[in-house]
Amino acid sequence: MANFQFILLLSTFFLFSLCTSRDTITLDAPLSYGDTLLSSGGVFTLGFFTSNNMKYLGIWYTQIIQQTVVWVANRDNPMLDSTGVLSLNTNGSILQLQNGSAKVFWSTSPLNRVTAVARLLDTGNFVLMDNNTSIISWQSFDYPTDTLLPGLKVGLIMGQPRFLTSWTSSDNPSSSNYTIKLDSAGFPEYFILDRSKRVYRTGPWNGRQFSGEPEMETDSKLTFVFVSNPNETYYTFYVNDTSLISRLVLNQSFLQRYVSDGSGWTLYWSLPRDQCDNYAQCGPYGVCNLNSSNVPDCTCLAGFIPESEKQWDLRDTSAGCIRRTGLNCTSDGFIRISDVKLPETTNATVDSTVGLEDCRNRCLKNCSCTGYSNLDVSNGESSCMMWFSDLVDIRQFNGGGQILYYRVAGSDVPAASNASEKRKTTNAAIIVISIILGLVILASFGYLVRRMKRKKKGLRQTSFELAWSLAHEHDGVLDEGSRSQGNLSSLPLYDVNVIFSATNNFSPSNKLGEGGFGTVFMGELDGGNRIAVKRLGNFSTQGLDELKNEVILIAKLQHINLVSLLGCCIKGEELMLIYEYMENKSMDTIIFDKAKSSQLNWQKRFEIIKGIARGVLYLHQDSRLRVIHRDLKASNVLLDKHMNPKISDFGLARIFGTDDTKSHTNRVVGTYGYMAPEYAMDGIFSVKSDVFSFGVLVLEIISGKKNRRIFDTEPSSNLLSYAWTLWKDNKSLELLDTSISKNSFHREEIMRCIQVGLLCVQDRPDDRPDMSTVVLMLNSRDAILPQPKQPGYFSDRVTSDAKSLSSCTVYDTTLTIMEPR
Ligand SMILES: *[C@@H]1O[C@H](CO)[C@@H](O)[C@H](O)[C@H]1NC(C)=O
Ligand SMILES: *[C@@H]1O[C@H](CO)[C@@H](O)[C@H](O)[C@H]1NC(C)=O
Ligand SMILES: *[C@@H]1O[C@H](CO)[C@@H](O)[C@H](O)[C@H]1NC(C)=O
Ligand SMILES: *[C@@H]1O[C@H](CO)[C@@H](O)[C@H](O)[C@H]1NC(C)=O
Ligand SMILES: *[C@@H]1O[C@H](CO)[C@@H](O)[C@H](O)[C@H]1NC(C)=O
Ligand SMILES: *[C@@H]1O[C@H](CO)[C@@H](O)[C@H](O)[C@H]1NC(C)=O
Ligand SMILES: *[C@@H]1O[C@H](CO)[C@@H](O)[C@H](O)[C@H]1NC(C)=O
Ligand SMILES: *[C@@H]1O[C@H](CO)[C@@H](O)[C@H](O)[C@H]1NC(C)=O
Ligand SMILES: *[C@@H]1O[C@H](CO)[C@@H](O)[C@H](O)[C@H]1NC(C)=O
Ligand SMILES: *[C@@H]1O[C@H](CO)[C@@H](O)[C@H](O)[C@H]1NC(C)=O
Ligand SMILES: *[C@@H]1O[C@H](CO)[C@@H](O)[C@H](O)[C@H]1NC(C)=O
Ligand SMILES: *[C@@H]1O[C@H](CO)[C@@H](O)[C@H](O)[C@H]1NC(C)=O
Repeated sequence: MANFQFILLLSTFFLFSLCTSRDTITLDAPLSYGDTLLSSGGVFTLGFFTSNNMKYLGIWYTQIIQQTVVWVANRDNPMLDSTGVLSLNTNGSILQLQNGSAKVFWSTSPLNRVTAVARLLDTGNFVLMDNNTSIISWQSFDYPTDTLLPGLKVGLIMGQPRFLTSWTSSDNPSSSNYTIKLDSAGFPEYFILDRSKRVYRTGPWNGRQFSGEPEMETDSKLTFVFVSNPNETYYTFYVNDTSLISRLVLNQSFLQRYVSDGSGWTLYWSLPRDQCDNYAQCGPYGVCNLNSSNVPDCTCLAGFIPESEKQWDLRDTSAGCIRRTGLNCTSDGFIRISDVKLPETTNATVDSTVGLEDCRNRCLKNCSCTGYSNLDVSNGESSCMMWFSDLVDIRQFNGGGQILYYRVAGSDVPAASNASEKRKTTNAAIIVISIILGLVILASFGYLVRRMKRKKKGLRQTSFELAWSLAHEHDGVLDEGSRSQGNLSSLPLYDVNVIFSATNNFSPSNKLGEGGFGTVFMGELDGGNRIAVKRLGNFSTQGLDELKNEVILIAKLQHINLVSLLGCCIKGEELMLIYEYMENKSMDTIIFDKAKSSQLNWQKRFEIIKGIARGVLYLHQDSRLRVIHRDLKASNVLLDKHMNPKISDFGLARIFGTDDTKSHTNRVVGTYGYMAPEYAMDGIFSVKSDVFSFGVLVLEIISGKKNRRIFDTEPSSNLLSYAWTLWKDNKSLELLDTSISKNSFHREEIMRCIQVGLLCVQDRPDDRPDMSTVVLMLNSRDAILPQPKQPGYFSDRVTSDAKSLSSCTVYDTTLTIMEPR
């Protein structure tokens, strides 16, 4: 009996509560503080909630215990007391929130249609509708706060912007400065903004997802929708799995998707993911690439160089990159880069009827077109997007992005490997040519031996003459000007006594090493600052003024990858140069030392290679002097305390090269093992000989092995021939220093470095890339590298003296035969 009564009581209570729950506000039934509306299916609740002692009218999920508010009416106008009432005005044209003394805290704008009821729907949409016709005259979905619910459209609807605005903090619903808005200029994209500052860009919708979110993929649970037509442009999503709840929320600068099975929330994803998602992190024409260490890495698109090398090295990459070669509309070309988030599309156009090939032609014809792409990946290759401004905010993913073709000067388009064509040479031709070549080599061999003996005497003198005539060819008008301007006051002159006491009277215990031009000593100044002092020989044969001018010029070469010349010191006819002190000494003391070489992992070595390349590029191209180093080698690359490479001894060849070379013939300029064949054999020197030395250096850094003299005929003793053999056999990774783990992550990078190294040591100077190309090849994942030809080392070399015998065709074809498969 008692049981029955209890059940009766319970069911009465249940009935009662069902009766009291309603989803509608009518003229005669307003909503008072403490009351709630429950959508008909019970999904959402509308009512008053308190946050931080303030009262707000809002909508939240009924089921989810942790109150999750998805919409707030009076977010910027909180009520302080609990006298709030939500009601319709007399003719039902305005819904308003008032307190006990009729002060209005929130209201809908007056509508010209008379409305009977306000109803909370199961979608979370709160609407004013005509009870008879169900025509909606106002809806909360048109005024979203920070949450995107399924079916809510953000974008531009009939000219009205619809966007999310984050809460100020997790307990304060008031509007913050963070919004996510559609920018409908060009091709529409969404931006997360901090006031008007762009924080994140979604990228254009590519038919499946936003270009910046390759992992966003419609599946059986969630459907993502982007619609763009003249009336409306919007994004929304639907949940197809009824057991799942999902919402998108803008939480300060983060856009987060949460999912729930009805209990708690799980963070599904959050944008921006990392620094590479920051808007325009790498500036115009820069590409952001996130490697495993979560450090954003900016590189320039191939064919572009940092706007300011200095800023770039300091990781200030916002200025981005500039073209290496200016565009000349008619002869331009395109470079392809894959796996990217397409650049900003505010100045882009789309034609969904044009295929990729036509797109290219259109872009080529319009001189202001900077790039093109197939936008819609869901629809074959038939939607042509073209850009008409700088390409900004490009990020490269480790897979899953899109393909972009961007415009560069024709000369900057890397030549695609045409090795396959060359390989078509018939076997017969090869045999004939081989025979001819054999004869040529035999005939020239005796001559070569004789010539070599003769060369050893005359080599240095010849090389100096040639190098100097070359170097002076490069000296521009500017050089002449600065030469005469040079005065001693611009270079600190150290007192002889200071230097002597700093180096302990050049005590042998302070000796750091011996270079081609003199001996280096460590010194410590009174303040404790360390310096390196290079003691050069006597200059009795050289005009002192001219010498000083030369030193002043060299001191003006400033680059992060060059050792800084702090000053000089002149005692009688002896010259001493004062350099910054490098904690980790020269690179050869580390990479060739089995015990120490493990200090340099692959990433470090790669940074060192890139740093040296930038330094040499500066010497060759970017500095005012156009210096050929002539003695690049491991012992001339110094490492600072962070293992950053700095080139030393640059410009010294200038000092020693002027006027009277005879007195310096006892100095070795250039080091066997690093000397390009044309220099060693013929004394011909150019920037390409530095490139050769750089190539040797690269292979040494990768392998940890020293290249012996290039005259060694025993192939196994020569690093270049060893590297070449491995390359031909497709086993290049075996070259890698055993102290570096063959981590597959870096495989591509290592292979690229080996290829660059081999390209640099090619026999013919003309075949070798110049340093700017080297820097590009090292920095761009997408640059198509040519196949290297055989390196220059003596045993296979046909000298220039034999050129009259061996025609160019023979020469080329010989090398072709040796190309790897
Ligand atoms: C209504 O709000 C106003 C402004 O906050 C306040 O001055 C007034 O006292 C409130 N009335 C009641 C009855 O709470
Ligand atoms: C509704 O009533 C207000 C005054 O309460 C009036 O100004 C407005 O014109 C009315 N709207 C309609 C559609 O009748
Ligand atoms: C709205 O319509 C329903 C059914 O059509 C009716 O039961 C209800 O009384 C109406 N409410 C008002 C305020 O007209
Ligand atoms: C709804 O329809 C009923 C009868 O059809 C009518 O009496 C009533 O005025 C209508 N209400 C509104 C708000 O139009
Ligand atoms: C944003 O989300 C984090 C948790 O992901 C939370 O701690 C923080 O309070 C939220 N901020 C706002 C403004 O909601
Ligand atoms: C928005 O930015 C302005 C200017 O930076 C600042 O004064 C204001 O406090 C910010 N508002 C919020 C809610 O953070
Ligand atoms: C745009 O709106 C107009 C007027 O409301 C309508 O006639 C037209 O069909 C709409 N176009 C689209 C694509 O929805
Ligand atoms: C998911 O729901 C949306 C809207 O309800 C619908 O358009 C879409 O076709 C559905 N997707 C699937 C896979 O059922
Ligand atoms: C990532 O990039 C940074 C900056 O360029 C570099 O220091 C680091 O070695 C790189 N890490 C990997 C794993 O490539
Ligand atoms: C562009 O370069 C090509 C080849 O270098 C040349 O033939 C052409 O005249 C140049 N056009 C313009 C507009 O400078
Ligand atoms: C190039 O394209 C832009 C943007 O579409 C257009 O304004 C301009 O007229 C075009 N120029 C030529 C030469 O077609
Ligand atoms: C797009 O064009 C406008 C006007 O020419 C310019 O202000 C804006 O910087 C351009 N956008 C980009 C990304 O270059």
